Amino acid sequence: MKVLVVGGGGREHTLVWKIAQSPKVSKIFCAPGNGGISKLAECINIKTTDLSSLASFAKQNKIDLVVVGPDDPLAMGLVDMIEAEGIKAFGPSKKGAEIEASKVFSKNLMKKYNIPTANYEVFEDPSEVKKYLEKSSFPLVVKAEGLALGKGVIIAAEIGQALKAIDEIMIDRAFGDAGSRVVVEEFLQGQEVSILAFTDGKTVVPMVSSQDHKRIFDNDQGPNTGGMGTFSPSRIYSNELAEECMEKIYLPTVRAMEAEGRKFKGVLYFGLMITKDGPKTLEYNARFGDPETQVVIPRLKTDIIDIFEAVIEERLDKINIEWYPGGAACVVMASGGYPGKYNKGYEISGIEEAESLGCMAFHAGTKVVNGTLITAGGRVLGVTGLGKDLDEAIKKAYEGVEKVKFKEAHHRKDIGIK
Ligand code: AMP
Ligand code: GLY
Repeated sequence: MKVLVVGGGGREHTLVWKIAQSPKVSKIFCAPGNGGISKLAECINIKTTDLSSLASFAKQNKIDLVVVGPDDPLAMGLVDMIEAEGIKAFGPSKKGAEIEASKVFSKNLMKKYNIPTANYEVFEDPSEVKKYLEKSSFPLVVKAEGLALGKGVIIAAEIGQALKAIDEIMIDRAFGDAGSRVVVEEFLQGQEVSILAFTDGKTVVPMVSSQDHKRIFDNDQGPNTGGMGTFSPSRIYSNELAEECMEKIYLPTVRAMEAEGRKFKGVLYFGLMITKDGPKTLEYNARFGDPETQVVIPRLKTDIIDIFEAVIEERLDKINIEWYPGGAACVVMASGGYPGKYNKGYEISGIEEAESLGCMAFHAGTKVVNGTLITAGGRVLGVTGLGKDLDEAIKKAYEGVEKVKFKEAHHRKDIGIK
């Protein structure tokens, strides 16, 4: 079969790497792809938000399956459009993707169906929210309603920070229309766990657990990023906790979406905070996480195409999904200055040496220019290591990182060490 993967980050590189292992697949295209993906797939120069070009490419090239990585095309309805062409697509419909695209929708859904989450209020009027903040106690969390590249969430330690966040989101519109409404919510304390789950709208099959590191510097210092490293499994996600989450969060969410006429098919990502009062949902994503995918998918034993087809055909309860035991860790190497300003265009070396140690390098911001691999983004690549346990995996990933070189590279030294 011919597969088109939409996206061009580390997540998509990992998906392409796994899809390429399926005996069912004869050819992979990726739009737009990146320097690493170009070794496994034919990269085509179409933006992930150019839905009509993606749909006509799929039609003209007789694609059998389209796999959508990022949030934007899902929220814009790419899956609906591909299906309208009679082509199979993996990912939720536009109505399903709203669970990520609107925090107001997802918070109201959780409230209506008693799914544990932080207490919250929604505001449309900046002066109303400011009045509310004046009489609140801190810390509090301010969130822009819509998609904001992971930057629309501000943890405010005191009122000044919260008011500044309101000005940026609602008045300066730093995230455009994503800032027409805000959610102000209770600050939760605990450890975060990411659970990605396959669902066909009825059955939910959680993948192995993982944890992300969102801050740029060691010991969770500095601004939030798209993710600086991940590891799997989580050290705190026990079988009992998994059962509790299935009963109180995963199944109720999938049932709620169906009851709302928004049957969710694809990967549903549960961002959980494990608090002393039990697990609570911080956020939903309507897709594979990045860089969680870089540690979860290398642990998947089953052919991912079999899973995608079972989800699309709503027979997820009929297949057996298997995982490799042990652990995985991914250390992201970023351009110095990220998530602020950074330089691009530096030559990258040492990837083959890292691979010869048994590591995988999943590219994010790279491209090949005249045969040379150069940096082309904030997060450049992630080095994934596997091991018989988590400690071995972490050690392996850092051995790989030592080999990869580019100017002004930055990575965290404490991935998985909590
Ligand atoms: P979100 O995009 O909603 O997951 O928020 C991004 C990050 O902000 C989360 O991964 C948490 O680290 C943090 N966060 C979000 N909501 C809360 C909350 N209610 N309490 C504490 N931290 C939060
Ligand atoms: N790693 C968080 C996300 O994919 O949104």
